[in-house]
Amino acid sequence: MRIILADNYEEMSRKAADIVRSQIVLKPDCVLGLATGDTPMGMYQELIKMYENKEVDFSEVTIFNLDEYYSLSRENPQSYYYYMHHNFFKHINVKKENTYIPNGTATEIDEECRNYEEQIKNKGGIDMQVLGIGANGHIGFNEPDVNFEAETHLVKLDEMTIEANSRFFSSKDKVPTSAISMGIKTIMQSRMLVLLANGESKADAIYKTIKGKICPEVPASIIQLHPNATMVIEKNAAKLL
Ligand code: F6R
Repeated sequence: MRIILADNYEEMSRKAADIVRSQIVLKPDCVLGLATGDTPMGMYQELIKMYENKEVDFSEVTIFNLDEYYSLSRENPQSYYYYMHHNFFKHINVKKENTYIPNGTATEIDEECRNYEEQIKNKGGIDMQVLGIGANGHIGFNEPDVNFEAETHLVKLDEMTIEANSRFFSSKDKVPTSAISMGIKTIMQSRMLVLLANGESKADAIYKTIKGKICPEVPASIIQLHPNATMVIEKNAAKLL
């Protein structure tokens, strides 16, 4: 595991964007896995700037997102579909047909999950998966006591996740209680992982992920077994290392 430290959020975001850009330079038709939330926002802004300066071209890139809230429609501003289109896709030249996000309103959830896995496989697998991390150690929406063997599936959100994500909703009871998420197996099959962490609230999870025992209580700890993982960690998130 490679650990890259950053002095602040801006530096973390720039370094992460540089890593993603290098992947696209090396393989213009690469498959990226992307995350939502506060952490990667600065990285998306950096990538948009690079695109505007003609330093990166997304025209052949395929993107799969990690997760989507169950029951939120694409038009809902809290949906991850909305987040990705609003904050990233509409500002770059990725082709709409090359962007994939689980459908949170699918009626046949198992079929939706199976299709998502199929679509990833049909594209040749994910070259680089960008991850954030929950304060409880989750990656994607794979919550503590995770099944390391799961592929894309419907997950019940942890109380801590509902609490943390209530900041994006008008009240806590509006936060969906489940989501469709790539499983740990899906994530671990990516050829490279790039995990970003920012802020003191992530320090404990980062410590356990890197220095702790590999265990289902800390889903991200499985990354210790990945042959090509890079962590880009802002100094407050790294303070217990
Ligand atoms: C988002 C995702 C989550 C977040 C994590 C951290 O697609 O899968 O694992 O990365 O909850 O969220 P932030 O960045 O908002 O602290």
